[in-house]
Amino acid sequence: MMKGKTVVLGVTGSIAAYKAAELASQLVQVGTRVEVIMTEAATQFISPLTFRNITGRPVVTRMFELASEYSVEHVALAEAADVVVIAPATANTIAKIAAGIADDMLSCTVLATKAPVIVAPAMDVNMYENQVTQENIAKLKARGFVMVGPGYGRLASGKMGLGRLVDISEIMAAISQVLGKSGDLHGKRIVVTAGGTQEPLDPVRCLTNRSSGKMGYAIAEAARDRGAEVVLVTAPTALPRPYGIDVVQVTTAQDMYEAVQKAVGKADALIMAAAVADYRPKKMAESKIKREKADKLVLELERTPDILGEVRGNFLRVGFAAESEELVANAKEKLRKKQLDLIVANDVSAIGAETNSVVLIDRTGSIDELPTLPKREVADRILDKVASLLSS
Ligand SMILES: Cc1cc2nc3c(=O)[nH]c(=O)nc-3n(C[C@H](O)[C@H](O)[C@H](O)COP(=O)(O)O)c2cc1C
Repeated sequence: MMKGKTVVLGVTGSIAAYKAAELASQLVQVGTRVEVIMTEAATQFISPLTFRNITGRPVVTRMFELASEYSVEHVALAEAADVVVIAPATANTIAKIAAGIADDMLSCTVLATKAPVIVAPAMDVNMYENQVTQENIAKLKARGFVMVGPGYGRLASGKMGLGRLVDISEIMAAISQVLGKSGDLHGKRIVVTAGGTQEPLDPVRCLTNRSSGKMGYAIAEAARDRGAEVVLVTAPTALPRPYGIDVVQVTTAQDMYEAVQKAVGKADALIMAAAVADYRPKKMAESKIKREKADKLVLELERTPDILGEVRGNFLRVGFAAESEELVANAKEKLRKKQLDLIVANDVSAIGAETNSVVLIDRTGSIDELPTLPKREVADRILDKVASLLSS
């Protein structure tokens, strides 16, 4: 979605301005054309030369600069933009935009553009919490600006508080979501499950599996970036909370079953990428099981709810089959038994890995064997199928 798009990156006079260089670099790496506009104050913190070299494009710093290719047509970048991103955004620039002031190239571009505008504030906590800044931010939100952050943490003043520029990955996710708004899953509600459930044995121990959650998170993020409204029902993972996705945290298979039941209300598709325990301890010990108690410990297990088998409704149902043998035959059997629309068959070796090689089998019997790909690419191939099944 980002390839070939024009991102106008506004950099303002914050101590966090140096982080915008990394943002520009990541944008260039995903194939966007990056046009940087710096405020006068921003040039005190980082040199235009840095952005000139990263983007390979002229950097606009002054509205009346004759050397700039944009000097004559002061709204040229406003028209060229697919998205305008202000990162970091100072309290001053936020106030100017909220008031409609256009006295430098950045504020002028924001006032003139019809493209979506993403604002990532960075400032001292007292500046951020000041009522006037809060009112300005509320005004921008009400006008449809996308606010990303600020985050909580250590600020340049040494204080802890809200005001940090969010991680570049979060700004990238926001850009990706904004650019994908009218993608092929626009208007669709997709529920995705991820992670490995944990079934408690006692207050400190549990039965679980090696699922990292990466496949499910990749599907959720890819669906978000194709315009879908996404709910991610996730068992514990070490992954950061994804931007722009409604996340429901669960622990056990029973929790996941209940959360999925609730989430699928208005869903168009349910994609079950989670590794859900098939069995759980019949009884959870109330206190920690002691080693000295006995030489041997026998656990009695009982079945957990079969989420895919039981959750039905007027939505597409996609399952995963992780098999150690007879991959396609077992996956076909699962597709038939659970009356799924699509099954993604993968070898158990995919669990925890960065890549996956999957076979997609749909309800019509069509079989698509994909090469080994990064999980995000596998996610997009699964969603190609989901989009086409939804439209048929
Ligand atoms: C060392 C230093 C750091 C600053 N950091 C910030 C900041 O993080 N956020 C902010 O809103 N203002 C910050 N300011 C104040 C702005 O630079 C100042 O308000 C400036 O006029 C902003 O101009 P601009 O919005 O046109 O870039 C800082 C000033 C100095 C001297």
